[in-house]
Amino acid sequence: MPEHVAIIMDGNGRWAQQRGKARHAGHRAGVETVRRVIETCGQQGVRVLTLFAFSSENWQRPKTEVKMLMELFFTALNREVRRMKKRNVRLRIIGDISAFSDKLQKLIIESEKTTADNDCLLLQVAANYGGRWD
Ligand code: FPP
Repeated sequence: MPEHVAIIMDGNGRWAQQRGKARHAGHRAGVETVRRVIETCGQQGVRVLTLFAFSSENWQRPKTEVKMLMELFFTALNREVRRMKKRNVRLRIIGDISAFSDKLQKLIIESEKTTADNDCLLLQVAANYGGRWD
């Protein structure tokens, strides 16, 4: 079993398009898939899962899509932290979070704090990252 698995979250739009759905539906389905991936990684003994979720280039997407992604990130985080605690998953956001809303930054910091002692799986979400920034 690999110790570290990294996934670039791509293809949400194409997934939706193939099914005659809006891009937003693809992003929402992406989040559901992430939940299954986290669960499986935890069960299979993967120690680190890195998800490349929202790159710094993604700010150039249409405003409505960016807004939707931010809301999705907030609600998913809010909802999943309880499950992470239960499954002994530690959350870390890697990337420049200073560009996110105060509300989202607070939730990120709080979620990182409340899961800090968990040691089954380290879930790293790359958000607002970029090659140069790295
Ligand atoms: C790429 O698919 C996916 C994204 C740009 C966003 C993925 C992230 C989430 C759904 C969760 C929200 C998380 C944060 C950190 C805001 P695409 O739209 O490029 O698909 P395509 O290549 O088929 O067009």
